[in-house]
Amino acid sequence: MSSTFSFQCLACCSQTKARAGVFYTPHGVVETPRFMPVGTLATVKTLTPAQLKETGAQMVLSNTYHLHLQPGEAIVAGGGGLHKFMGWSGPMLTDSGGFQVFSLSEMRKISEEGVTFRSPHDGQIIKFTPEKSIEIQNTLGADVIMAFDECPPATASRQEVEAATERTYRWLLRCIEAHQRSQDQALFGIVQGGVYLDLRCQAAEALTKLDLPGYAIGGVSVGEEPELIHQVVQATAPLLPHHKPRYLMGVGTYQEMVVAIASGVDLFDCVIPTRWARHGTAMVGGDRWNLKNAKFREDFTPLDETCPCYTCQNFTRAYISHLVRSQEILAYTLLSIHNITELIRFTQKIREAILNDTFVAEFGKWLGN
Ligand code: GUN
Ligand code: ZN
Repeated sequence: MSSTFSFQCLACCSQTKARAGVFYTPHGVVETPRFMPVGTLATVKTLTPAQLKETGAQMVLSNTYHLHLQPGEAIVAGGGGLHKFMGWSGPMLTDSGGFQVFSLSEMRKISEEGVTFRSPHDGQIIKFTPEKSIEIQNTLGADVIMAFDECPPATASRQEVEAATERTYRWLLRCIEAHQRSQDQALFGIVQGGVYLDLRCQAAEALTKLDLPGYAIGGVSVGEEPELIHQVVQATAPLLPHHKPRYLMGVGTYQEMVVAIASGVDLFDCVIPTRWARHGTAMVGGDRWNLKNAKFREDFTPLDETCPCYTCQNFTRAYISHLVRSQEILAYTLLSIHNITELIRFTQKIREAILNDTFVAEFGKWLGN
């Protein structure tokens, strides 16, 4: 592993496996636990990088599948790489495209070699293999790149999940072999295994032996019950190396993040705060508010009195309700700023609590304590 990446644990909770740490990358540090906003197409929708920074975002996600289709990695590289192209100078992560090929594209065919699918843009046949995904991610240039994995749906049988988990491991070995920029890009492995704890444990142990710079838990929140998500995360996270960052993919609800943090997870991402913003929904104190609701029309208070974000410091519920009703673009910007700030602040408060060893006292209610 290159010395440009390291994870330092600053404090461990005395009652759970929660930890507060710092993840060092070539584009800066990520204080963990932390929520990472999603910028699928090299933009966190409706926000400028300056606005994004003000939310407290440190690491931002982007997507190999989407960027390969549009504008293509050659153009991103021509623009100086992902950071320069999109004007974000902080840490970045690209997902491998594995998950998105499975969930978004039509007519996909999976084989040992990789996945073939039809481009939703022009119908062209495209093939993603572990080598291709890594080549694209090397060209895009994010700090953290993800292994190309197979994420089976919640409806898959045990036999299918077992086959996908084993294939994901073989694909990981091919990703490691193909990776050309280990000096400035950290390749994270992804633990699959569905809801089968024995498969999760086997995968976590096999991946740990590869001594990767970081590890992710994938294949959760694909439609299974929350209780099963908790069991999978509780069984898997503690098996991953203590001195490496752990990332739970696609999860960003309060409850799931607290449970995962208590099991030792450090990083999260989720499209919910920005997607809900575009539907006129604000996330406030663990609830979701539809700003179109009549009760907000003449409510001249901020979304959240305690929130330091630009939206809450400058605008009222009545104004945002007006913008949402009028479908003004500013509505989506203001709600995205607030929702992202809200989730990042939630993980920051948890981090402070872990540092003070008051995590269970303050957040125990989310753990059923
Ligand atoms: N995003 C959410 N879940 C997953 C997963 O299992 N694999 C990948 N590559 N990305 C994800
Ligand atoms: Zn706010």
